[in-house]
This record gives sequence, C-alpha cells and structure tokens, in this order.
Amino acid sequence: MIDLATIDRIIEAAQIEQVVSDYVTLRKRGVNLIGLCPFHNEKTPSFTVSPAKGICKCFGCGKGGNAVNFIMEIEQLNYYEALKHLAKKYNIEVVEKEMTAEQLATQNDRESMLVVNAYAQKYFSTLLHEHIDGKSIGLSYFKERGFSEAIIKKFQLGYSLDQRDAFTQEAIKQGYKKEYLVKTGLTLESETGNSLADRFRGRVLFPVHSISGKIVAFGGRILKKDDKMAKYLNSPESEVYHKSNELYGIFFAKQAIVKNDRCFLVEGYTDVISMHQSGIENVVASSGTSLTQGQIKLIHRFTPNITVIYDGDAAGIKASIRGIDMLLEEGMNVKVVLLPEGEDPDSFAKKQNASDFIAYIEQNSLDFISFKAKLLLEDAGNDPIKRAHLITDIVRSISVIPDNIIRSVYIKECSILMSINENVLYNEINKLKRDAREKELGLAYKEKKHFPQENIPINTTQTVENNFDQQELNLLRYVVRYGELNLFPKKTEATTENNPTVIAYICNELEADELSLYNPLHALLLENAKNQLHHPDFKAENHFLKHPNPAISQLALNLATDKYTLSATQAKQLDKETDHLHHLVPKAVYEFKNKIILHRISEKMQEMKIANDEKNATRMDELMHELNALNEVKKALSKELGERIIIKF
Ligand code: CTP
Ligand code: MN
Repeated sequence: MIDLATIDRIIEAAQIEQVVSDYVTLRKRGVNLIGLCPFHNEKTPSFTVSPAKGICKCFGCGKGGNAVNFIMEIEQLNYYEALKHLAKKYNIEVVEKEMTAEQLATQNDRESMLVVNAYAQKYFSTLLHEHIDGKSIGLSYFKERGFSEAIIKKFQLGYSLDQRDAFTQEAIKQGYKKEYLVKTGLTLESETGNSLADRFRGRVLFPVHSISGKIVAFGGRILKKDDKMAKYLNSPESEVYHKSNELYGIFFAKQAIVKNDRCFLVEGYTDVISMHQSGIENVVASSGTSLTQGQIKLIHRFTPNITVIYDGDAAGIKASIRGIDMLLEEGMNVKVVLLPEGEDPDSFAKKQNASDFIAYIEQNSLDFISFKAKLLLEDAGNDPIKRAHLITDIVRSISVIPDNIIRSVYIKECSILMSINENVLYNEINKLKRDAREKELGLAYKEKKHFPQENIPINTTQTVENNFDQQELNLLRYVVRYGELNLFPKKTEATTENNPTVIAYICNELEADELSLYNPLHALLLENAKNQLHHPDFKAENHFLKHPNPAISQLALNLATDKYTLSATQAKQLDKETDHLHHLVPKAVYEFKNKIILHRISEKMQEMKIANDEKNATRMDELMHELNALNEVKKALSKELGERIIIKF
C-alpha cells in the first residue's frame, strides 16, 4: 500500500507530456500536443495531450486519461504498479503503508511460495536443457512435437526427473523450506509427515504464469501412454493459484490482445504454444475446464472481442456452449470458429503460417447465433418441436446480452435466419429476462397462466430496463464540467438559497426524493463531489481528471472531453452551456427521475400480472393504487419536462 501523500506527490510530479513522450513523438498544435496513438494503428495523428489539464486522449480509439491511466494502459500495469513506475521515473521515494501482522503473514506466505515456484521453474528448465535424461526424454519429446528451441525457452518449459524426490531433496539442500514446497504442491507429503515425494516426477512441465508473469502453478504432461495415469497433472489450488482466475498464456498474450483488440480462446497448453510459434500471440487457454467468470473478466480487461476456437471433432462442443452464454452475459462480443475435422489449434497451427491461419479464422468465424444454428439445425431438420427447442436455445443466449443495441441486432439476425417474426422473439426474450429477474427477486411464479390481453395496459415489449446509466451520465456530465458553478450565471436574482451550485442542486434533488445513483461508480463520483464542494478552490473538472481512483479519472475524462471532438460551431454552442445551467441541470434531473418512475411502473405491471395469475384480488387492489400514484408522479414530471423548454441558443 502506498500512502496518500506519496500518491499525491507522484500525480503532481508526473507531467503528462513528459510521461507520454517516452512512448509517443509529440508535436505542438495550439495549446495541445499531438502524435500517433500508441494504442491502435493509425497513419494520421489523433492522440492529443493537454498539458494544461494533465490528460491525454485518442480521438480515434478513445483511450487515454491522466498520467497514471496512461501508464496503466501502455505498460498493462495495475494502479499501484503504475504509481510505482512513475515514482521511479521521478525519483520519488515510495513509502509503503505498514501492514497488519496478518496481512504480513499471508504476504510472506505468498511471496515465499512464488519464490519456490521460480526456483522450481529454473531447476526444471535446467534439467530439460542440460541433464542427460532431460535432453533425451523431455527435450526430445518437445522437439518431436515440433516446438522450437526459442519457444521452449520463452514458455520456460521444463522436465522433472523420473525419481522419487530428486527435486525436493535439491530444493531443501538449497535452503527452501519444506512448508512452502508442500504448500505450492511441488512436493507431496505422506500423512505421517516423514516421507516426501515430487509431484511431477517423470513429466514435462508447463509453468503457468500469472498476468504479471509470476509462476503460480505447473502443468505436467505424462510422456508415455498410460491409461492408468492422468495425461496432465496440475498444481493444486493454493494461496498463489486460484485456477478459476488464471488463464494459461495471458502474460505472453496481453499486449497482442490489446494491439489486435481480440483474444483467441483455445483449450490447452500446447494449443497456445503452437499458435505462438506460428506467430499468433493473442491467444489464451482455459486449460480444459469450462470458462469461469473470473477468467472472462481477465480477458475483458484487454478486449471485449473474443473468438473461441473449437477442435474439429470435439464431442464436447455442445456441452461447452454454455461457456458462450457466460461470455455474452459479461458483455463480450463472441465469435466461434470450428477447425477442420481432426484438427486442434496445435496441429492446425503447425500446418501453416500465421497469415493462413488468420485467414482461415476470418473466413470461418461465425457469430454465436449462426454457430448454434449451424450446429443444431442439422439435428433438428424439419422436426417442428426440435426447431422450437433450437429457437428457445438461441433466444436464451440473446436474452443474457446486457447491451440493448447489440441484443436487438442479434434479434434481427435470428429472425432472418430462423424465419420468425421479430416481435415474437422480443416477447420471448422479455419473458426470459423477466423470469430471470423474478427469480433473482425470489418471486418465481407458482403457475403460469396467460394474463387476459385486455388487462395489459402496456405492451410487455415496452418493459423498461433497470439501467439508468444514460440518465446518470448525463447528470454527471454537469457535475464534472460545471459542478462548482452556480445554476444562474449572474448574481442578480439570486441568493445562495435559490442559486445553489450544480452539485448542491443535484444532491438536494436526489436526497429530497430519497434517490441515489444506481451505478456504484457513478454514485461514488457524486458522493465525492459533494464532499469536495466545501473546499474553497474546488474546480470539479480539475479535481476529477486528477482523481487518484483510476476508474473515476477515466469516467471524468470521458465526460469532460467530448467537446474536443465537436466541430467549432458545436463547441461554441457548448461554451454557452454555462449560461443555461438553470434549465439544463434541472432537465437532466427530471429525466433521471422520469426514467425511474417508468421503471417502477413497469415493475408494478409485472407484479400485477403475477397477482392476476394467482387470482389475488387484495394484492391487485393494492397494486392498482400504487400504480395510480406512480402515474400521477409521471404526469407531473412530464409536465415539468415539457415546460423546461430549452431556450434555443
Ligand atoms: N487438461 C488437464 N488435465 C487432464 C487433461 C487435460 O488439465 N487430465 C487440460 C490441459 O491444460 C490441456 C487441456 O486440458 O492442455 C486440453 O486437453 P487436451 O486437448 O487433452 O490436451 P492437449 O493440450 O491437446 O495436449 P496434448 O496435445 O499434449 O495431448
Ligand atoms: Mn493436442
């Protein structure tokens, strides 16, 4: 942990133009500097640095931020690592906060385990390259599989002698503690505790690197065919290895994933290595198990685009399709490639160079709907019941996609592909979404009967979603840009009473209705704004762009910089915003409230439907009253919104 004073000093010292110019050649343009974006390939410069604001931003790909954000992105570091990186550049001594005894103990445990793993990797690699058995058994196996010397070194592959405890004895002799040898799983201990053995004896080894390159585990492959023994043996779960949060190859792939804005997902160690050898580096493996949420989040840090590559003959494809829904649920854009019969990425990569492989992937990528359709349509044929199941299956996948627009694109595609009316699909999807929501609320239906049509005042497809991001961002835009300004420009008609600052006005309005922002990051920013308001020279934009929490500074950057992308006339109009805050800000507040009311109304409607199904007349009555009250509020808000006609300027 770094103390806050040091963080402040680092942020103050890190001049954005100096930090960026270590990576980008900058030229002056007006008050700004401009250069070629380091985050995507471009020929004309759109990467802009504003020394005055201390930020940078690419108007091509949107990446940027303050100096810390920039270093995080370009060096692929986490927040603390980026701060330390900058501290080093500016010779600032980093005072790490004292840890509690408990924190210290786990930290020591973790570090000791990582040290043991690092030692083991060196030991096993040395054996592979220098020991007679390592060379004749291990290295020759890798060579036979077509791995080059360079790739074997890069992935730090190794060999463990086929002896009971050769590694354990050597490690103990070198001073490594038995405790950590056992905790990492490199050494197996008998129950009595007086006999030790090497876990990986007689296997070739694939070290598993964490995202920052530390070795957290090993996978050991058997060399002879032996039905009694598992082909791969892996390190056990430990303080340094949580299998569900690691992806094989991520350390070697992360930069290529960012550069290509796409990640390939394969099954195994050898698939990753062979693809690297053929020149495709943006690839990771889930190591045979089904994908976890943690692994998906790891990929999502670098790109939203993923292509899953399946073996041509994998019998398990249908089972593993569940993984696709998880990817969709996390908001990833998912494509799928099926390799030719009998090939896996390992064998396929060896048959051709990178550009042929990439061409194959491009020509054979299917989005998940076409993929499911293709895979399952063969089974279904013209059997109407099977076709219906297939459609339900696809619809289920579409229903988990969080983004409205992307979802509607897929609905359209599905409608065309399966020749089904879009409205039918919308209805089906809304039903699924509702079921999911109700399940979440513990409101599962007892029996599902149809709600009489004439009793449904709004169409179910109009269900208002529980997502207020757009309205919240609109509010925060005013907070970040003009937060410290008063609503009315001149002091004429205003006492502080009726001329609050933008931030105070918004906070009061929300508090009066006991509302808060739903998105936790948005709420955090607003809370922070409120607390800062009393500082005498608080300037919202400046404060948030330099904010030490990278999520906040990034959000502020997005809210503060669209003006640079506007045309000169548009920008001029924007300049006049400060004169109209007394219209604009209340309007934004009403729009937010309006959206919430619409959402509450739609919730009540759903509840009515259930009450009706259950023939619960008392509940129906109650709900009807609540609904009427909500509709009154809605009317009042619409009136307010209608009256807030924005003066043309
Ligand atoms: N795996 C495992 N334990 C097993 C089998 C498989 O952990 N008993 C994991 C490994 O990460 C392996 C991946 O699942 O890389 C895919 O399995 P498989 O396709 O059987 O192995 P390959 O990687 O193709 O290995 P090889 O080509 O050496 O057979
Ligand atoms: Mn294989």
